[in-house]
Amino acid sequence: MTFLSLNPNTMSGHSHSLTEFNTLGVAQNCQQLTRLNSYDSIIEFCQAYDDKENSLLVLGGGSNLVLTDDFDGEVIKVESQGVKITEDDDYFYLSVEAGEDWPRFVETLVNQGIGGFENLALIPGTVGASPIQNIGAYGVELEKFCDWIEFYHLSDDTVKQLTAAECQFGYRDSIFKNALKNQTVVLRVGFKLPKQWKPVINYGPLKDFNAQTVTASDIFKRVCEIRQSKLPDPNVIGNVGSFFKNPIVSMTVYQELLKRYPYIVAYSVDNGMKLAAGWLIDQAGLKGHRIENVGVHDKQALVLVNHGGATGKQIIQLASFVAAKVHDTFGVELEVEPRLIGKHGEIEFHG
Ligand code: EPU
Repeated sequence: MTFLSLNPNTMSGHSHSLTEFNTLGVAQNCQQLTRLNSYDSIIEFCQAYDDKENSLLVLGGGSNLVLTDDFDGEVIKVESQGVKITEDDDYFYLSVEAGEDWPRFVETLVNQGIGGFENLALIPGTVGASPIQNIGAYGVELEKFCDWIEFYHLSDDTVKQLTAAECQFGYRDSIFKNALKNQTVVLRVGFKLPKQWKPVINYGPLKDFNAQTVTASDIFKRVCEIRQSKLPDPNVIGNVGSFFKNPIVSMTVYQELLKRYPYIVAYSVDNGMKLAAGWLIDQAGLKGHRIENVGVHDKQALVLVNHGGATGKQIIQLASFVAAKVHDTFGVELEVEPRLIGKHGEIEFHG
């Protein structure tokens, strides 16, 4: 591949370490790693990319993946920067390069008096990765203000744009995890934020705020405090945030569980009840549980942590153990939230 040999940012050989590029801090290597710091360089790379044997692994912040092996294919790290803001009477329109750091983006918006994403403060990762799993927290999901996504379609070799409606957003889900899985490299994300800001304060620890007087900055600060008190900082202890999705069960299953567990934590959703997986894991007695170098976090049971030197396989073993225990206790299946990446690309979790 001529492009790669010409690119000064390309590092080759099987021994290129990915440790610093995944927030779990798992020590796996790859053959090629190319850091792409502009929109044009991402397109140039994609046009030249022709490895049909292996998936291309696209890294943003590396905060939502588990490397279970050395990766045989190519890895790109998207680092393009830039935020363009335009406005009319009613909205701010943002066009944001995929490599922008999500937490910094949110903080900058709040400091500029542009509200909307304050509930999504401190979620590790990049803007380009944010629509893939429709990141969400404290009552807000990305899709609420997403306008469009521009991406390179690898199989069609062309740049495309989808409107938010076409992205089929769901709970931690989008078209990029389904019909377009492994076929896209996100280039830019468009957001549309109403100037008439409305606070979202229905989530427990935000309920004390007065809707008439609260500011986006107040919510931002409170969300940062909550996250810092419950969730481990990946710079200190390796993790990928929530390791499991909150499972959705039918009303009938929920009613049965409620009889046995009157304090079960659940939220009503369109197709049934969403159970708090953290509560299930905690009640199954696994909070703080440790197997060698990996463990269930002691303040938030939904998070698995690398206590140092863990492998991705050990993390998956712990995840399987947790899922089995929850299944035995409650009869509920847990699905993992991060992507699991094996030798040749994404692999399935078989709890
Ligand atoms: N709970 C326990 N024990 C635990 C953890 C949680 O009893 O160890 C209970 C809590 O007391 C609470 C309920 O479970 O009543 C829910 O917990 P929490 O509010 O902490 O939220 P979550 O369901 O665990 C989800 C998201 C988080 C997001 C928070 C806040 C998923 C998979 N996770 O967690 O997202 O920050 O809500 O909105 O939906 C992430 O995706 O990485 C992430 C951190």
